[in-house]
Amino acid sequence: MNIFLFQLFLVTILFIDPSAAFTDYLLKKCNQAGFCQRNRHYATNIQSSHNSYYLIDEQSIHIDLDNNNNNSSSLRANIIKTIPRNDIEDIMVELPFKLTFQNDWQSVRFTIDESFDSNTNDDTEAESPLLNKHRYNETGLWSFMNHTDSLNNTPLQFEKFETIQSNLDKFVNFVFQTPDLEQNVIKVYNDINQLEIHLFLDSFQILIFQGEDLILSINDRSLFNFEHHRSMEQNFQNVLPEESTYNMFADDFEYSKGDHVPFGPESIALDFTFNGFNSLYGIPEHADSLRLRDTSNDEPYRLFNVDVFQYNLDSRMPMYGAIPLLLTSNKDKSVGVFWNNPADTWVDIHYTDNGLSQSHIMSEAGIIDVFVFIGEKPSDITDQFTQLTGRPTLPLLSSIGYHQCRWNYNDELDVLNVQENMDREDIPFDFIWLDLEYTDDKKYFTWKPDSFGNPGRMLKKLAKYGRQLAVLIDPHIKTQYHISEEIKRQEAGVLNAGGDLYVGRCWPGDSIWIDTMGKIGQRVWDGFFKDFITVKLPSYIDNLHIWNDMNEPSIFNGPETTAPKDLIHNGGFEERSIHNVYGLTVHETTYDSMKDIYGISDKRPFILTRAFFAGSQRSAATWTGDNIANWDYLKASIPMILSNNIVGMPFIGADIAGFDGNPTPELIIRWYQTGLWYPFFRAHAHIDSIRREPYLLEKPVRDSVRDSIRLRYTLLPTFYSAFHESSINGNAIMKPMFFQYPEHNELYDVDNQFYLGNYGILVKPITSPETFTTTMTFPKGIFYDLTTLKALVVDHLKEVEIDAPIAKIPAFIEGGHILFKREIYRRSSKLMVNDPYTLLVAPTLDNGSASGKLYVDDGETFSYENGEYLETVVSLLAKSILKNDIVHIPVNADCLGNTMIEKIVIAMDSNTMDIGDHATIKIGSETRKIEVEHDDGTTTVIIKNPQVRVNEQWEISFSI
Ligand SMILES: *[C@@H]1O[C@H](CO)[C@@H](O)[C@H](O)[C@H]1NC(C)=O
Ligand SMILES: *[C@@H]1O[C@H](CO)[C@@H](O)[C@H](O)[C@H]1NC(C)=O
Ligand SMILES: *[C@@H]1O[C@H](CO)[C@@H](O)[C@H](O)[C@H]1NC(C)=O
Ligand SMILES: *[C@@H]1O[C@H](CO)[C@@H](O)[C@H](O)[C@H]1NC(C)=O
Repeated sequence: MNIFLFQLFLVTILFIDPSAAFTDYLLKKCNQAGFCQRNRHYATNIQSSHNSYYLIDEQSIHIDLDNNNNNSSSLRANIIKTIPRNDIEDIMVELPFKLTFQNDWQSVRFTIDESFDSNTNDDTEAESPLLNKHRYNETGLWSFMNHTDSLNNTPLQFEKFETIQSNLDKFVNFVFQTPDLEQNVIKVYNDINQLEIHLFLDSFQILIFQGEDLILSINDRSLFNFEHHRSMEQNFQNVLPEESTYNMFADDFEYSKGDHVPFGPESIALDFTFNGFNSLYGIPEHADSLRLRDTSNDEPYRLFNVDVFQYNLDSRMPMYGAIPLLLTSNKDKSVGVFWNNPADTWVDIHYTDNGLSQSHIMSEAGIIDVFVFIGEKPSDITDQFTQLTGRPTLPLLSSIGYHQCRWNYNDELDVLNVQENMDREDIPFDFIWLDLEYTDDKKYFTWKPDSFGNPGRMLKKLAKYGRQLAVLIDPHIKTQYHISEEIKRQEAGVLNAGGDLYVGRCWPGDSIWIDTMGKIGQRVWDGFFKDFITVKLPSYIDNLHIWNDMNEPSIFNGPETTAPKDLIHNGGFEERSIHNVYGLTVHETTYDSMKDIYGISDKRPFILTRAFFAGSQRSAATWTGDNIANWDYLKASIPMILSNNIVGMPFIGADIAGFDGNPTPELIIRWYQTGLWYPFFRAHAHIDSIRREPYLLEKPVRDSVRDSIRLRYTLLPTFYSAFHESSINGNAIMKPMFFQYPEHNELYDVDNQFYLGNYGILVKPITSPETFTTTMTFPKGIFYDLTTLKALVVDHLKEVEIDAPIAKIPAFIEGGHILFKREIYRRSSKLMVNDPYTLLVAPTLDNGSASGKLYVDDGETFSYENGEYLETVVSLLAKSILKNDIVHIPVNADCLGNTMIEKIVIAMDSNTMDIGDHATIKIGSETRKIEVEHDDGTTTVIIKNPQVRVNEQWEISFSI
């Protein structure tokens, strides 16, 4: 043991991790949640009884036609639920079904609602006049990109509804065949991507084929359950023999007994069987493995946004956010199922021995609204999903730098001291954060007068070095001050079941909640920001950003740490129906408000949110909430962040080095070594933890942390380029192995190593104590150690033992890639914008080729939308030519991207290349010779100061 390690262990003894965990009993288990218990019960019974109570009414089948050319846009029909009665007539419930095709035939959508007009069984009297009787069908207003449900349904063409024979020779995209009455099936197909959909009439089952292959079966196990509307009095005759009546009209869970359950049972459930797929992924947020577990003998995954301080690990328990996208892949196909419903949702997963992945999705309320995406690669699913729900926002360049946060920085002096000390220690940072206590007595939109008497001055002092400030503003508003009075006056708050303003407890004590579901709430919220920033702060300020915390919402005296399900939101919808999307409405409204305010400078706002839903990626970053400073949480952060990355919300991180408790020095080192790869790179600490800003750390620890933060800054051009790609196609930034190589079965379980976007950096952080070697899985290829550039040749996919002494991060660059780095230390990202680049070239083994992309814009405004950006690709060809090809040059900007390349480093293996002592550079018609240096210690080749720029076309030819 060396002295340094010995010191680490000594200190370890002094810092004892709290053996804390979440207070589980506050949250329901499936068998304590009425609808989850009922649907699991139904699932078991219906599979043994083989009964089917649902069919499609043939007479109701209707194809919406465009009169001009007979293109059709959707198929509509009624699903009939029949409850058999011996004594009286059977009860029939009509459930309108609609099937459409979206996004140029890439995806299939269907919805199932309940028709209140024709269902005879309807009894409205029991309900509150305040409530909207219809099932909540407006999720798309929030989850879809364009805030409207009038998405372009792709028009369909069909021959003739009456014809049985489809004519595939003709230019026919979709063909609806006549219902084949003997087989009771409607077939719909699409000859562009060979999708074929079979809709069965006698049992409501949907099969989706691609070519000959059955990919997805829906309601294959008959778990479709639609708890139709009925009164408590008539309930007895509305229950199927396979059903349980547990908690249909009440809630007997200890902490949510007060729930009125005004509509009684209204849950929906459906099963999806993925054929030929061994693993399912997605549906974050859970502190669990990336690959979803079989839940047959366990709790299902629950999607229900709640505040889970010190959440449990290896758990399916609900967390702060919910993205109901399931996805799967095999070597040549990928499928995604998006369940567009924000109610409390549970998902059971089962893997069968014969290669089926089964899922059973159950939601407490709302409509069934399902999108099925089909593609080749798993990233095709993320792409299609973010085409629908919106691309991740291109963030401020500074927001992908390092964030220094703590609960709390106590006053202006404290903030400026942190800045000064970071600078003194040459540790770069871009953001400093103010948690709760900066406010005057926890009243948002105010500053504590004694501590932050002149926020404008503080912002200006931060701006001097290009730095940003983020402050906390939550949706719970203390009662009895001008902000809450205004919410009351404008009727912009969330109501209780009785229709009065709901009052609950949160940080400020008695609080009310802004209802950003409605236009009035949005306008009022907007006004608060205008007053807070444009009126109260000097107009030059545009380095203030917002953190929306506790927006699940977290309510201290609420059931399951959150809002009672019978609260009422805009439009008369219950919290029950909208719960998981509320947090999104808060941060999106905040974003819109800030965008308005910064409209003058055109600056991009930065918003951090704790709660999220499908679509949150458009306007916010997130993080994994209140973790604990121990090794297990460090380890868990990787699969958690990967999970969000594959469902279109890549801008996520975990609190470094653990929010609660005091990390050991060794843990701090390893956490920064891991955290520098998180798309969102922020240190944060609980108010009771010992101060641990990097400059306070003892010497070897401090140096190591500085190295990690600086490594992130040298890689900022690459990170930013990855964020840009993601803003175009939803790509993962921290990317799981199977996303890169779906053809390798062996990689589907790997969730402790990852790639950085499409940039070829492969990393396996060390996440356990006293660990100085690790086993890394490499696909076939050549991999150069990111620091030493020493080559590792891998002849087939295998595990390789890698050294990882305390100062080392196992990180490699895969042959075939070129990285743009910036190696000069600056205080913040903004001060680096004119710095020269270093190119790191990693040739492939076989033909010595490589390429790499660089995206540059001003890093802070929306002018890139008008073409003010540079995009360029550098390629190494046939071991002999390195050239720059401009993809896009800024329209106006003269200096943007007009930066030099100061150094070109070519990683070499004796097998890859053989380069002589000089090279020829060609720029336009000018040619000149330049020297090439060989580093004798390694096989690396260096060209110093080649005098070329990133925004000009050039070509370097090497002599052999
Ligand atoms: C649409 O289809 C109907 C029935 O097959 C046919 O009579 C009509 O001419 C078609 N219209 C057009 C514009 O093709
Ligand atoms: C409708 O069908 C015609 C061929 O009859 C096709 O050219 C046209 O593009 C289709 N319309 C739309 C909006 O897809
Ligand atoms: C929701 O349902 C109501 C009632 O059926 C209907 O009027 C409305 O158009 C639907 N909204 C959407 C977005 O589908
Ligand atoms: C949605 O908005 C984007 C950006 O404004 C636009 O390009 C796209 O065409 C819109 N899509 C639909 C379906 O309206």
